[in-house]
Amino acid sequence: MISRSLERFLNDDFELPAFPKVVLRLNQLLASKQFALSEVGDVLSRDPGLSAKVLELVNSSVYGLKTRVETVNRAVVMIGAEQVRQLVIATSVVKMFKSIPHNLIQVEDFWKHCVACGAIAKKLAELQGEEQPDRFFVAGLLHDVGRLILYLKAPEKMNEVFEKVKDGEMLFHEAERKVFGFNHAEVGFQLCRIWSLPDFFRETAGYHHNPEDAFRHHEAASLIHIADFIANALQLGSSGQKYVPLLDDFAWNRSGFTSSIAEGVVNESMEKYEEAIHVLL
Ligand SMILES: [Fe+2]
Ligand SMILES: [Fe+2]
Repeated sequence: MISRSLERFLNDDFELPAFPKVVLRLNQLLASKQFALSEVGDVLSRDPGLSAKVLELVNSSVYGLKTRVETVNRAVVMIGAEQVRQLVIATSVVKMFKSIPHNLIQVEDFWKHCVACGAIAKKLAELQGEEQPDRFFVAGLLHDVGRLILYLKAPEKMNEVFEKVKDGEMLFHEAERKVFGFNHAEVGFQLCRIWSLPDFFRETAGYHHNPEDAFRHHEAASLIHIADFIANALQLGSSGQKYVPLLDDFAWNRSGFTSSIAEGVVNESMEKYEEAIHVLL
């Protein structure tokens, strides 16, 4: 379901920055369902800058592989074609929106917040025995991307949002909804749909402030919610949020975590956070 106001917002003449060609080719290739893993590596190798970033990330503590991966073909074999595609998309999104000057937020701080959320979410996912914890890193990277679009596309309205939240009485995403008729999470959901990302990413972006309302991925949305809360509380970067939003009871109870577990996770995520920042920003 998409509200009228959000549909209008996404359809008017603001153009999303274009993805590099390699992302479109990877989307086509993986959609065809009949491809050799070496083809994925071949497509990715056509963009040396992107290939280098993917290799750096795969070899960093974020992925924690036991052996060093020297080629993108090997990376595809080690982490899988779909995971490589997700990583390429997330890396490209950071790059596309990295150097935009903005007076409302520091884009670098914004991405630091998202990297922190991703690094913490991945660690939480490992603790919960998730089968694919890597995708939580990508989900964390993308969880607030809708807010970046709000800043870029409607800075005056975002000023109004800031006015509403400055005395701490209203939460940021609630103020967005008052001003725009929708919030950054809903924008994020639609962006992930436009970028052909799986439901998992649509829902983690779309429901990280209200995981209870997710369609299928309640656990994952809860996990991103908790990681987001921790990243905000520790002020690792900033997505513009001045006050730490409340920790959602549904998410916390469902996770089964305790505060001492969360503390341990923070300590163990910091190396991943620092390394990923170094590679991506
Ligand atoms: Fe958010
Ligand atoms: Fe966030």
